[in-house]
Parts: sequence; structure tokens; C-alpha cells
Amino acid sequence: MARITAGIGTSHVPAIGAAIDLGRTQDPDWKPIFDGYEWVKDWIKDNTPDVIILCYNDHASAMMLDIVPTFALGFAEEFEPADEGWGKRQVPTVYNHIELAGHIAEQLVIDEFDLTIMNDIDVDHGCTVPLSLVFGQPEEWPCKVIPLIVNVTQFPTPSANRCWQLGEAIRDAVRSFPQDLDVQIWGTGGMSHQLQGPRAGLINPEFDNAFLDRLGNEPDDLRTITRLEFLRESGSEGIELIMWLIMRAAMGYNVEELYRFYRVPASNTAVGHIVYKTPE
Ligand code: DHB
Ligand code: FE
Repeated sequence: MARITAGIGTSHVPAIGAAIDLGRTQDPDWKPIFDGYEWVKDWIKDNTPDVIILCYNDHASAMMLDIVPTFALGFAEEFEPADEGWGKRQVPTVYNHIELAGHIAEQLVIDEFDLTIMNDIDVDHGCTVPLSLVFGQPEEWPCKVIPLIVNVTQFPTPSANRCWQLGEAIRDAVRSFPQDLDVQIWGTGGMSHQLQGPRAGLINPEFDNAFLDRLGNEPDDLRTITRLEFLRESGSEGIELIMWLIMRAAMGYNVEELYRFYRVPASNTAVGHIVYKTPE
């Protein structure tokens, strides 16, 4: 049987990818941020899963605004880094676990989630920056990755509770897959940030830290946060945090928090990072 063994939440700031790719991680501005990921880089060496289900959002880099799926599952054999306007990141191709992806797609549709299936998509910083933060700069990513893409960029975005329900359905789908697989689920994006309009630059550490505090043991409180509250409290891009709720729900009710990191700012964003393990 496949099992979800761990969950990771992390911001996915594009400038972090550029800092890694340009060898700037030890620059004074960047070092404290990368230091916050040393723990996970060490931990993952002994905890590399077979597959990661990686929840992220495309930022109109691979999926233009003509079609906006609410939830989309990557079903191609492989995914190239997207060209986000300054050339593709020189990071490895992402390889899918096509059997598990197919099983999840089928089970989610049976579970009445009307998923979009993406048979051809490039993955942007939402996917590749978390991989770089956790795995560094390997020749190949050390495991398979199933991209799960969530619309957080165009109104109407899915509710926090719908993301929670999706996470629960993903958990059931993984646990009904007969092959023995160690699966991790990652939720990316956030934390509070606003890239546009008069409030550009907004960051709300109080909101972010309360979110991190509740995510472990009081996650039900987070399921009722409305789009408007996310917008007001965490800025227009803080809504990316709903993808952390997919991760959290997929882990089941009890989790053990292994590690947490929070820092302001990185680029225009509050950077948050958390690692959970499923109790044995
Ligand atoms: C920034 C952060 C993001 O999460 C993102 O997707 C794009 C830009 C930023 O801080 O600039
Ligand atoms: Fe983003």
C-alpha cells in the first residue's frame, strides 16, 4: 500500500530560484533564508520519498489566462521547467509517477472532484523552487513528482475548505494504491504577500505565525478562512496558503511537527517553511 509519510510546506519565491541558480545563496541578504532550509536538506537525505505530490500554482507562465482550471493534475510523463520570461531555469526535468498519478486522477473524479488533466505542461517556480530549496542542485531530482496545480491567481479561487476536502480525498486515493510507495505531499506558496496595487509589499507576520501555529493541531480553524480574509490579512497573494491546507489534510488528523522556519522578507514575501511527519 502507498502511504503519505511526511508533509512539507514552503514558500516558492522566484527570486530564491534565481539566487540559487546565480550562486548567491551566501550573500548577506540571502544567507539567513537559505540557512533556514539547511535542516530540511539534511533531513531529506534519509527521508527521500518515492513520490512527491507537489501542490503549487502556475503563475500564468505555462497556463495562460484563456483556460483557468480550479484543480489540475499533471499527467504527462515529464515536465520541463517553464520559461518565465528570462529563459528556463537550468534545473532537472521533473518526472511523473504515471501509475500513481492515474490512480489519483481516477479516485478524485470518483470522489466528485472535477479535475482537469494536464497532459502537457511546463512547471514554473511554484514547483521548481521548492524542489531546489529541499534537494539543492542535483543532476536529477531524486524522486518522482506529481504536480497538482491550484488556481489561486484568478477569481474565483477555491475555498480553504474545498482545498481541505481535496487533501482528504488525496489521502484516501494514495492509501488505496496497491503498490508499496513512500509518498510525501508538499504545499507551496505564501506566506503573506501582495505584489500589486496600493498595498504592494504588505506582509503580516502575526497572521502568518498564527497560521503556522494552528496548522498542526487546530487546522479546522483554518478551513473557515474566507477569500476576503486572506486578501485583507495576508495580501492578494497570501491566498496561496490554501495549498498548504491540501498538504495538511492529506496527512490525516495527527501530525508531528519536525521543523519550522519563518523569515521576513525574501523578495516581496514572508518566507515560511514547515515539516510534518505522520506518526508511526
Ligand atoms: C514573489 C513571490 C511569489 O510567491 C510569487 O509566486 C511571485 C513573486 C515575490 O516575492 O516577488
Ligand atoms: Fe506564488
